[in-house]
Amino acid sequence: MLKTFKSYFQGHEDIRSYLSPGRVNLIGEHIDYHGGYVFPAAIDLGTCGMVGVRKDRLFRFVSLNFEDEPVITRSLDDLAFSEEDGWANYAKGILWMLLNEGFQIDHGFDLLVHGDLPTASGLSSSASLELLVAFIANDLYDLKMSRSELALLGQKVENEYMGMHCGIMDQLAIALGEKDRALLMNTATLEVKPTKAVFPGYRWVIMNTNYQRKTTDSKYNERRDESHRALLKIKEVKDIEHLCELTMEEFEAVSHVLDNPIELKRARHAVSEQARTLEARRALEAGDVEAFGRLLNESHLSLKEDYEVTGKHLDALVKSAITHGAVGARVTGAGFGGCAIALVEKSLLDRFIPAVEADYIKKIQLEPSFYLVKFTDGVRRVESCE
Ligand code: GLA
Repeated sequence: MLKTFKSYFQGHEDIRSYLSPGRVNLIGEHIDYHGGYVFPAAIDLGTCGMVGVRKDRLFRFVSLNFEDEPVITRSLDDLAFSEEDGWANYAKGILWMLLNEGFQIDHGFDLLVHGDLPTASGLSSSASLELLVAFIANDLYDLKMSRSELALLGQKVENEYMGMHCGIMDQLAIALGEKDRALLMNTATLEVKPTKAVFPGYRWVIMNTNYQRKTTDSKYNERRDESHRALLKIKEVKDIEHLCELTMEEFEAVSHVLDNPIELKRARHAVSEQARTLEARRALEAGDVEAFGRLLNESHLSLKEDYEVTGKHLDALVKSAITHGAVGARVTGAGFGGCAIALVEKSLLDRFIPAVEADYIKKIQLEPSFYLVKFTDGVRRVESCE
């Protein structure tokens, strides 16, 4: 990538490279904004960025993923969101937010990025880019922010600059990822416990529906609003801050206040998913792969029926994965298309992937993609980008 960097941006002596991973979530879906436990891992698909510092107030951004787009040039005084800047809004958003929070930044940089994460697929390509730029800014301007603070900054950009009311899971996983570990994350306290999420003889397989829905963000925000309304009603009879504080029994005892069936379903998902995630942790500790697989399947069902974020593409992939021998499978990330994961015996993999692929093509007339990822460290400086 160095050659390409130099062809876009001349005159830099000190060129630095940084790598920001994507993430996959194993279980605990759509509860990181309900104070729940989630279980994501940073993965070895991500976004690499090369940077050269400028002396003036300009930023120039190029992405090799959108090669037909011109260099986007903006000054420090011109970082407001603008539809036409597309992907670069994530980079601008980080810088805009830092300025807004009073950090002293008086010069810009040239940035070339390239990612191998499929975009809008539930593997957090946007959080990966946000954390890349946040980490770069922290390093170049010596802002002394902690990794958790960088994650919170990224979430704030999504929430307030991009208008996507996401939780903290993606940004925190990308900031704090650890090689060979998934992160058991308490989203109420932001406490994170790196945990080996492997069953000997089994592999995690990521399966991409290659279906991207345009309305994911608005549907996502809608789910948040619906469950927030449920929370407000429950609060009238029980003193809680988040839905995930409730056990299933406590929820049953107060669910009569949820007179709207949609709100009832949304809240039931939050509470039951929290219970499943805690149980999944126990299954992992006990090495009980069958139990973990069952919980994955139950999670998918709840996301399909109660939270209604799956859709025919994801349902078809998950069903086929189970038919062809996965011990469990479920949607990962926001849903409405994008990716699912399956836990599969290693010895089955050679047959599993072609069989699921053939099923899915037959049913949906679209080719899926499969990724056998490794769990990796979080965002970091690297020697160079390839
Ligand atoms: C998106 C959001 C996360 C989380 C997941 C669903 O990835 O960015 O905060 O809510 O969806 O679990």
